[in-house]
Amino acid sequence: MGKNGAGKSTMMKIVAGVQKATSGNVSANKEAVIAYLPQHLLTEDDCTVFEEAAKAFKLVFEIKNEMERLNNELSTRTDYESEAYMKIIEEYRNWVRNFMH
Ligand SMILES: Nc1ncnc2c1ncn2[C@@H]1O[C@H](COP(=O)(O)OP(=O)(O)OP(=O)(O)O)[C@@H](O)[C@H]1O
Ligand SMILES: [Mg+2]
Repeated sequence: MGKNGAGKSTMMKIVAGVQKATSGNVSANKEAVIAYLPQHLLTEDDCTVFEEAAKAFKLVFEIKNEMERLNNELSTRTDYESEAYMKIIEEYRNWVRNFMH
């Protein structure tokens, strides 16, 4: 937060690597994905700022929903010995595996 022209956008651009800092440096975890949502792109969209930013995490939300669905299946079903139940466990494990890599 800061008043108009204080340098908020400039700071975000530097963090995102869109603009170079005149001094100092930016460091981030190698695995970090930094996305920058320009201040003036929202005018033609009817999304909220949160919805717009969430678009960058579409895949993550899809994975989360799918894992929740599988988790729910695993915790409500009682056919533990069935092939179908085993399949859900495998599917869940695959998601975890893919997510870790
Ligand atoms: N650390 C800084 N030192 C000197 N000038 C700066 C610095 N940070 C930003 N500026 C300059 O200040 C001006 C306004 O910066 P910026 O657009 O980042 O502000 P803002 O906080 O995002 O403003 P707004 O609230 O209007 O979006 C730009 O011309 C920018 O180059
Ligand atoms: Mg700004």
